[in-house]
Amino acid sequence: MKTILVTGGTGFIGNCFCKLLLAERKDWKVLNVDVCTYAANPHTIDEELKNPNYVFYKKDIRDRKAMEEIFEKEHPDVVVNFAAESHVDRSISDPTIFLETNIIGTSVLMDCCRKYGIERYHQVSTDEVYGDLPLDRPDLFFHEDTPLHTSSPYSTSKASADLLVLAYYRTYGLPVTISRCSNNYGPYQFPEKLIPLMISKASKDEKLPVYGEGLNVRDWLYVEDHCRGILAVIEKGRVGEVYNLGGHNERNNLYIVKRILSEMGKPESLISHVPDRHGHDQRYAIDPHKANVELNWDPVTTFEVGIKKTIEWYLSDYGKHWLEECVASEQEWLKKNYENRK
Ligand code: NAD
Ligand code: DAU
Repeated sequence: MKTILVTGGTGFIGNCFCKLLLAERKDWKVLNVDVCTYAANPHTIDEELKNPNYVFYKKDIRDRKAMEEIFEKEHPDVVVNFAAESHVDRSISDPTIFLETNIIGTSVLMDCCRKYGIERYHQVSTDEVYGDLPLDRPDLFFHEDTPLHTSSPYSTSKASADLLVLAYYRTYGLPVTISRCSNNYGPYQFPEKLIPLMISKASKDEKLPVYGEGLNVRDWLYVEDHCRGILAVIEKGRVGEVYNLGGHNERNNLYIVKRILSEMGKPESLISHVPDRHGHDQRYAIDPHKANVELNWDPVTTFEVGIKKTIEWYLSDYGKHWLEECVASEQEWLKKNYENRK
């Protein structure tokens, strides 16, 4: 039986990854190490906790002693690091915790891997490490060798972690891989991010705050496709390599928001243009050629199908309840981020 330690497994993507493993790698023991920040609704893992192959450790990846105890006890074969502070706007408001979790936390995990031995350490990274592309150059894409050129404290912390991961490969021979993915969407995403925030607000006929003109472009990928990509990197990817994962699904923010309103039968008059994000990245666009060719990975969920499934989930009885629990816990943030944008 293989033991895989997933950090941040109560969060949006980490939980989807655990679900995928429990469903399709039935002989793997799945450990979820998550400290449960504001971004983790504890009910997200209700189903997984019933599975005998799943163990949850409510621990902080920055806590070296706690991490060493888990490694000592479990001796994981594979570590996949999803745990992070993940919201760009929060990093602009308060960068410190981003440096602590995203950089120091990563180094603690890799030190444990060195100490106890590991088959693979996988770092879940982001396309934001490449910075942005201009809106008037649709011919340009992010490749794995595109220089790192970050904009926000969040993306800078993720790029720093990536460099540290590659340094542990070169210096200590730690068997690492990195995946850099574009914007994810799907069920269980915390409603601070564009798509669930807009669904949540539209469901209550509240104004939908679009930053600036809403022309910034993101490359949207359904979360399960991302998780299948990560699994492919772990099982088939070459050690020391970076793999870009993206959906070839570029849309501007206004398109996304209008699409949500139309799917929900709500009027476009709910859209409210508000002052822009500082340093707002213009366009992200991944070239996923390397993952296609080397790993035979391709996204399977079209945006049309994925967005319908996502909205249906948030409007289901379960999804509504889950969403309300999150919204209740983020009142302070909503006030801080949006009050001075009116
Ligand atoms: P999320 O904010 O939904 O979840 C992060 C999880 O990490 C939470 O459960 C949180 O409790 C946990 N966590 C935070 N600090 C921790 C700590 N110190 N110790 C243990 N656990 C801690 O984030 P997400 O959207 O699921 O993103 C997961 C990873 O994927 C992140 O590394 C992010 O940078 C990366 N990523 C996200 C996207 C996206 O579109 N959401 C795209 C590409 C890459
Ligand atoms: O590209 C991958 C990244 O995608 C991940 O690494 C990050 O963890 C994830 O948060 C996401 O970052 P973005 O900044 O692109 O996502 P966000 O959902 O915050 O914003 C998407 C776009 O929508 C962006 O152009 C800003 C805009 N926006 C966002 C919010 C929250 C609005 O116009 N209004 C809003 O209220």
